[in-house]
Amino acid sequence: MQDEEAILVDICRVGLIGAGNVARRHAQVLGSFPDVHLAGITDVDPAAAAALARDAGCRPFRGPAELLAAGVDAVYVCVPPFAHGTPETAVLSARLPLFVEKPLAATAETAERLGAQVAAAGVLTAVGHHWRYLKVVERARQLLDGRPVRLVGGTWLDKVPPVGWWPVRDRSGGPVIEQAAHVLDLARLLAGEVAEVFAMGDGRPPAVPGADVDGVTTATLRFRRGALGTLSTTCLLGWKQRAGLELVAEGLWLSVGEDGLAIREGGADPVEELIAADPAAARVAVDRAFIDAARGIGNDVRAPYAEALRTHRLACALATSAATGQSVRLAGDAAASLDGR
Ligand SMILES: NC(=O)c1ccc[n+]([C@@H]2O[C@H](COP(=O)([O-])OP(=O)(O)OC[C@H]3O[C@@H](n4cnc5c(N)ncnc54)[C@H](O)[C@@H]3O)[C@@H](O)[C@H]2O)c1
Repeated sequence: MQDEEAILVDICRVGLIGAGNVARRHAQVLGSFPDVHLAGITDVDPAAAAALARDAGCRPFRGPAELLAAGVDAVYVCVPPFAHGTPETAVLSARLPLFVEKPLAATAETAERLGAQVAAAGVLTAVGHHWRYLKVVERARQLLDGRPVRLVGGTWLDKVPPVGWWPVRDRSGGPVIEQAAHVLDLARLLAGEVAEVFAMGDGRPPAVPGADVDGVTTATLRFRRGALGTLSTTCLLGWKQRAGLELVAEGLWLSVGEDGLAIREGGADPVEELIAADPAAARVAVDRAFIDAARGIGNDVRAPYAEALRTHRLACALATSAATGQSVRLAGDAAASLDGR
């Protein structure tokens, strides 16, 4: 009996706010964890909540208040960029561990406001920057240890994702905020903070109904530690061609992303190594780390809210630059180099 009680106490009851694609993925991963009980799901679309709740074997709820009142130990917020704000505030008011999907919001203002609420609440947070859990990213970090990055080339060459809000700027924030967030987060992780950006959008939206986002964006970035970089994004393809980063340090070239890591180093006759990545494992690891931390048995959350906010600020600076035609300087942040992992 005592053992049974101990096991029950060790179960983490998780609620989901938002019942779309990414919530379904988290529900599947969390459902495979023996120490997680999916307590319920809510969505502004009751049919979406009911469908995912049925598939995940849990209850649908009419709103965050009802879900939280049912008794949960941690909450995932899996809503589109424009819908961030109210869900997080409800979770933070209840002082519960909070997992938020990227991007943090469609704008800088909403994410800054929530960042202040997170700091005041002092709760555990995690953001879905699962690339930080790729083994190939860990290897890239090891290779770059003590070797300053001099050049960074980020790309996100993709299609328009099949969700109605995506091609609308004030709903998604645009491709740099919504899609390139993973690449920008990785650039910060591997090359450090960015001091200044200059971006251009082509002003020609993709040919889908209601679209007002740029079909193509390109940008230059100046990193605080001296590296120079570029970012190129497009949503004009019918498929995902490439999302990742190329990095150059003296005598070393890396190409890293969810598809793998390519390494070339040496002199005139460089040795090349190719390592496949395992994105599915990284998507499990990001949830595992959050649940372990929520249960108090681990501390491997690699992108808490404050850290993801720095990536979001960078993405928003690029979006502002593209919109205004002016370069944008990013304010320094003394804590940035301390908890960037
Ligand atoms: N980390 C990753 O790899 C990854 C992968 C996919 C999506 N995402 C991110 O997850 C977010 C959601 O993407 P998606 O593909 O699941 O979108 P989606 O449109 O499939 O689902 C979003 C759901 O949120 C619901 N919703 C909207 N406003 C809400 C609110 N205020 N309260 C509760 N529910 C609300 C919608 O009704 C919808 O069911 C996006 O920001 C996206 O970038 C991240």
